Formats: sequence, C-alpha cells, structure tokens
Amino acid sequence: MSYNSIGLSAKKSLALSDDLNDLLANFQRYYQNLRGIHWNIKGKRFFDLHVKFEELYTDANIKVDEIAERILTLGGVPLHTFEDYIANAKVPVGKNITKDEEAIRLIVESLTQLLLIERDILKTSDEADDEGTNSMMSDFITEQEKTVWMMKAWLAEEI
Ligand SMILES: [Fe+2]
Repeated sequence: MSYNSIGLSAKKSLALSDDLNDLLANFQRYYQNLRGIHWNIKGKRFFDLHVKFEELYTDANIKVDEIAERILTLGGVPLHTFEDYIANAKVPVGKNITKDEEAIRLIVESLTQLLLIERDILKTSDEADDEGTNSMMSDFITEQEKTVWMMKAWLAEEI
C-alpha cells in the first residue's frame, strides 16, 4: 500500500476527501439556510432568534473552513463554487422563511442530513485509520446532536 506524507493510504485519503467534499457542499447549504432565516425571521421572537441564527451560522462558517482544510490535508481539492454545491447537496433548501417554527424545523432537517453524512464518513475514516477526520466527525456529531435536542425542545417535541 502506498502511504502519503501523513502516513495514510493515499487512495483512501482521496476517497475520504471526496466524501468530505460532499459534506462541504451540504454544510454550505446549511450555512445559507441559516443566513436566510437570520435575515428573514419575523415576529415576537425576532431578537432572540436573529441572534441565535447568527451564532449558528458563525459556527457553521468555522466548520466549513475546517472541512475544506481537512480535504486539502488529505490531498484533495475543496469544492468552492455554487454550481458544485448545488450538484452535491442533499440538505433541504429553505427559501424566504419568516416563521419561527418553520425556521427551527429547517435547522433540524438540515442537521439530520449532515449527521447522516458525517456518520458515513466516520465509518470510512475509521477503516482508513484516519484519526484526524474521525475526531472531527465525532466532534461535529456530538455538537449537532445537542443542537437538534435543543431545537426539538424549543418545538416541544420528542427527539
Ligand atoms: Fe446579521
């Protein structure tokens, strides 16, 4: 087996970077969903939610950069055009959402998709002995699961 400079299988690293590009595209859609609801939210909870959505998109923005830089570390090239993101994303698109409940549901649905993708990557990174990607996915999953719980609590619904 041929190893790259970080001691991982070159072939597996490139396969993982493709999977991470899929996650990147989906994260960018999640990020744009958050910007949309941050801008368009209306109603009595405006001030709380406007700030909360900013907190979430700031966090998503940091994670987008971490994913892209992990792709580069693995020898891949991060997707960066809207065209590529559209072709690869599964996270639902929320457009012109003004209602608080609809906005929170969009977050939950987006995070569910991200979690499914991250768990798939976790399996692949585990098989490739790629601890860097593995721990990144673990951290994302733990944080996002907690966010989903909080959003479901806000909706007064069971997980
Ligand atoms: Fe703003």
